Amino acid sequence: MTSASDIGLTVLGIETSCDETAVAIVRQRDGDKPELLANEVLSQIDDHAPYGGVVPEIAARSHLVHLDGLVTRALHKADLTFKDLNGIAATAGPGLIGGVIVGLMTAKAIALVHNLPFIGVNHLEGHALTTRLTNQTPFPYLLLLVSGGHCQLLHVKALGDYVRLGSTIDDAVGEAYDKTAKMMGLAYPGGPALEAIAKKGDTSRFDLPRPLLNRKDCDFSFSGLKTAVRKHVLELAHQGELDNQDKADIAASFQAAVADVLDNRVTRAMQWTKSELGDHPQLVVAGGVAANQALRARLTETCRANGFTLEVPPVGLCTDNGAMIAWAGLEHLAAGHTSPMDLEPRARWPLDKSTTR
Ligand code: KG4
Ligand code: ZN
Repeated sequence: MTSASDIGLTVLGIETSCDETAVAIVRQRDGDKPELLANEVLSQIDDHAPYGGVVPEIAARSHLVHLDGLVTRALHKADLTFKDLNGIAATAGPGLIGGVIVGLMTAKAIALVHNLPFIGVNHLEGHALTTRLTNQTPFPYLLLLVSGGHCQLLHVKALGDYVRLGSTIDDAVGEAYDKTAKMMGLAYPGGPALEAIAKKGDTSRFDLPRPLLNRKDCDFSFSGLKTAVRKHVLELAHQGELDNQDKADIAASFQAAVADVLDNRVTRAMQWTKSELGDHPQLVVAGGVAANQALRARLTETCRANGFTLEVPPVGLCTDNGAMIAWAGLEHLAAGHTSPMDLEPRARWPLDKSTTR
């Protein structure tokens, strides 16, 4: 097996699975820390905001319009040409299929024209490995993956060896943030907007449920919480328009409930895995919701209480980006893995092979 530290590798990564068109270039050489040479992210938020959520067709068309330009810009920023690259990686799924096709086909075309290895990356694996790029987190670790489409706890044993401990049985946590924010008329995407107003709110004004708390597994559920919020919003609306303090109190109460649920589920997963995680057990939190400072603070406490250390990517690399795809591609390339040119895009692609939920 060739190791990245022996030869030095430079990989360009493309991410187009949702509403960010992103291209990045990472390099690792001679046992040095990995370097992020370029990280271009074009958010489509303005295109989707009028609809209150991502419109798949608009997303795919926008990726198509902007992707080539972003590839050129990333190479320019890194002061490289295609000849300096050792591989091209792209998200092959899971995600909105139109967007995934745009990124995957672009990566395959570049790889063919420039005779470079091509690596199709699982988007979730990109999130799962990001702190190995930014913090050099060693395997193994416990992973809480919290994004707009996913909410899972995984035991990350090694590259490509992921055991799912639990996942949401209904909504993802980011989805719950987005839907709760939408109910209150907050700007899309809802997560950051809800976090901002929660700072001025009273966490105890609304008594919201903590779904699945203390259940003897590591699964999550957020739809009951969302429904409870809707009930309060409708009751308040019945009495007149929601004022800013009402919204702040709902946001703070919602966020406190989410924090309690995450703390409880993560604590259980820690009990399940601690003996297999070595002398310095680590919890990695990744995905868009990992950008949330209140949840980070709470999970810092969870880690302290259970003898774990918390590893999180910088805020800018929690939400979707090309760096995580370039890095996952580089890790696979270093391990001798490449993908065939007929690799198919996938709307669904569980990280662990064992189940399909
Ligand atoms: O990882 P990501 O960019 O895309 C997916 O793979 O889904 O995550 C996007 C999700 C959205 O639901 C967004 O509202 C949420 O992450 N998010 C946040 C915050 N920033 C982004 N949720 C809570 N607090 C935040 N600060
Ligand atoms: Zn994501």
